Amino acid sequence: SRSINLAVIPGDGIGQEVVAQGLKVLNAVLPQDVKLETKEYDLGARRWHRTGETLPDAELEALKGHDAILLGAIGDPSVPSGVLERGLLLKLRFAFDHFINLRPSKLFPNTDTPLAGRPDIDFVVVREGTEGPYTGNGGSLRTGTEHEVATEVSLNTAFGVERVVRDAFERAAARPRKKLTLVHKNNVLVYAGHLWKNTFDKVAAEYPQVTTDYLHVDAATIFFVTQPERFDVIVTDNLFGDILTDLAAAVSGGIGLAASGNINPTGAFPSMFEPVHGSAPDIAGQGKADPTATILSVALLLRHLGYEAEAARIEDAVSADLAERGGHLPGSSGSGGGSARGTDEIGDALAVRVAG
Ligand code: IPM
Ligand code: MN
Repeated sequence: SRSINLAVIPGDGIGQEVVAQGLKVLNAVLPQDVKLETKEYDLGARRWHRTGETLPDAELEALKGHDAILLGAIGDPSVPSGVLERGLLLKLRFAFDHFINLRPSKLFPNTDTPLAGRPDIDFVVVREGTEGPYTGNGGSLRTGTEHEVATEVSLNTAFGVERVVRDAFERAAARPRKKLTLVHKNNVLVYAGHLWKNTFDKVAAEYPQVTTDYLHVDAATIFFVTQPERFDVIVTDNLFGDILTDLAAAVSGGIGLAASGNINPTGAFPSMFEPVHGSAPDIAGQGKADPTATILSVALLLRHLGYEAEAARIEDAVSADLAERGGHLPGSSGSGGGSARGTDEIGDALAVRVAG
């Protein structure tokens, strides 16, 4: 019989609350014959305060044994900025070689967008997840003096660029519109820009059915706002992808709805699914965080593990629930997303729908 051995890292702030709803919906959607086992890992701000650890080797090792990881949110104002981000979240993405950071954007019914009219937003950003300026490849000279020099090198390898570009072509080829846009800044970032564009053009020759486009990242931000319907699949580097996907969330219903998957498609390591939003300490513990982004991340998790029908049921349930009841407000804090309905209420409604 089938089974899922899931690692759960609720993390900080609203992470606990939204993950509870994600698990509720996961339990409701899974067929009877699928055995779900979950193990919770106590990682994040509380752990750091207690022991000084972010992600001990023993836990990293234990996490490897799971089929997938569901993560809530990491970060707390009581921990110096960057400690948990680098020591836990990015450490997991690098250690488990999550080279695909998948971030779909869709404008659901009854959700607010700051854009005029209701443009058709249904695109997915394939953000590179293991390279770019995120590798900690830099340094500082004469630190703290008037003559300080800081470098932050963006690392791009032929291997790393080609594997993410190929994955994006595969995804584009599988979608009805079959369009892939490369976003970079190759008029200024000439070396990395050359590698990306060259690789993109080379792989494009193998996918004649996919329409291709190139945009500089600054121009892409304009089109995200003025013509989001022009996008289908977007492939870009780690930092551009980070920035673009927050903008994508903002124009497509708010950060409370934005799901993501940190994926290693080879299956060599467990992939990790998390809402794009942060821990939103300002609304934590009040039962008003929107769990939808986490629930949609559970859908991505299920799709990754081969449960396509169950993934689609969750996405359809979110769509139907919003169409019928509305009740979603875009995040006001910019990090977590508040909701007119309570956290539990949304989780309960979606659990009922996916089970029915
Ligand atoms: C994200 C976050 C992270 C990133 C931070 C917390 C390191 O902003 O998942 O988008 O920059 O990737
Ligand atoms: Mn981000």
